[in-house]
Amino acid sequence: MRKILVTGAAGFVGRHITRRLLETGDEVHAVDNIAPLGGGIDPDKGWPLFNPLDYASFHFYREDCRDFFNRVSDDDFDCCFHLAAVVGGRLVIENNPLAVAEDLSIDAEYWRWAVKAGPGRTACFSSSAVYPVEFQRRASYELLKEDMIDFGKSIGMPDMTYGWAKLTCEYLARLAYEKHGLKSIVYRPFSGYGEDQDDAYPFPSICKRALASQGASTLTVWGTGEQMRDFIHIEDCVDGILQTLPLIDNAEAVNLSTGIFTSFKQFARIAADVCGYSPKIVGLSDRPSGVFARAGDTSKQRKLGFAPKIDLRRGIERAVEYYKYCS
Ligand SMILES: NC(=O)c1ccc[n+]([C@@H]2O[C@H](COP(=O)([O-])OP(=O)(O)OC[C@H]3O[C@@H](n4cnc5c(N)ncnc54)[C@H](O)[C@@H]3O)[C@@H](O)[C@H]2O)c1
Repeated sequence: MRKILVTGAAGFVGRHITRRLLETGDEVHAVDNIAPLGGGIDPDKGWPLFNPLDYASFHFYREDCRDFFNRVSDDDFDCCFHLAAVVGGRLVIENNPLAVAEDLSIDAEYWRWAVKAGPGRTACFSSSAVYPVEFQRRASYELLKEDMIDFGKSIGMPDMTYGWAKLTCEYLARLAYEKHGLKSIVYRPFSGYGEDQDDAYPFPSICKRALASQGASTLTVWGTGEQMRDFIHIEDCVDGILQTLPLIDNAEAVNLSTGIFTSFKQFARIAADVCGYSPKIVGLSDRPSGVFARAGDTSKQRKLGFAPKIDLRRGIERAVEYYKYCS
């Protein structure tokens, strides 16, 4: 049985990783303070898709991970999934950039603790927001490739404080490897989605709106609706993470992406079709839309043996079923 630390375990990605680890027979030490603005759910209130409290090997610490790092000096973690972060969706990223800057402090404390505790390896969660915004403009955009960021040469301008903080975390992972031999892999997830995601994110909100507006003549999306993202199902993300985790030690980054650009309007059209109607899709221009086009190159993932399996329509069908019958 491996001993695993998951920070931010009660969040969207954390719940899915925790589930997979517990099902595999790992002992999971889950730390989460259920921070405001985030997608965390207290295990005592019930996680939507499974109950971690059914597992004796699940240990939950409802506290700020920085307090946990000060308090706990266990040096026998086989692996740490470092997910704790203030994210909060596009509204928070754009309107509350200093709240998101908290991530700089969380990540600094994580790496300082890791130097002392020496976990076997770290899965470090960065984001596609680290990529230079110049490659994501309407006039000119392209699939974002891991080597567009080279700490020895150029890093470009990331997306808001969220992107800066994640980029700094990547740099700390690299220093932790070079100076202290700490093994890690850095993940750059694109738009991970799933039925149990917080409503602050486009996936659940568009699916739920499509369902609630069934039969209506219009369906709204944020921004112009022409902005495009790379939607990857959370189960695919977890597969990709567990498959590639042992393959990189030196803090190199890997995208978790499908390589497919999907506009919010296209997304909403599929969601409405799944719900059995075909409304006009209308953009809400007063809502933030972020960069124009963000999708990830998949060649490195593929070389490492990972390819996503769940296409967006299937992901939407699963979610709509869930919202209809289970939530
Ligand atoms: N979901 C995605 O598609 C996606 C995309 C890119 C990057 N990521 C990264 O993956 C990680 C998880 O994202 P998510 O979507 O699950 O977000 P989330 O908001 O659902 O989860 C983050 C969790 O971290 C917890 N947290 C925040 N501050 C904490 C602290 N000081 N101590 C302990 N816990 C704390 C929150 O309570 C929350 O449960 C984040 O680092 C995020 O940047 C996710």
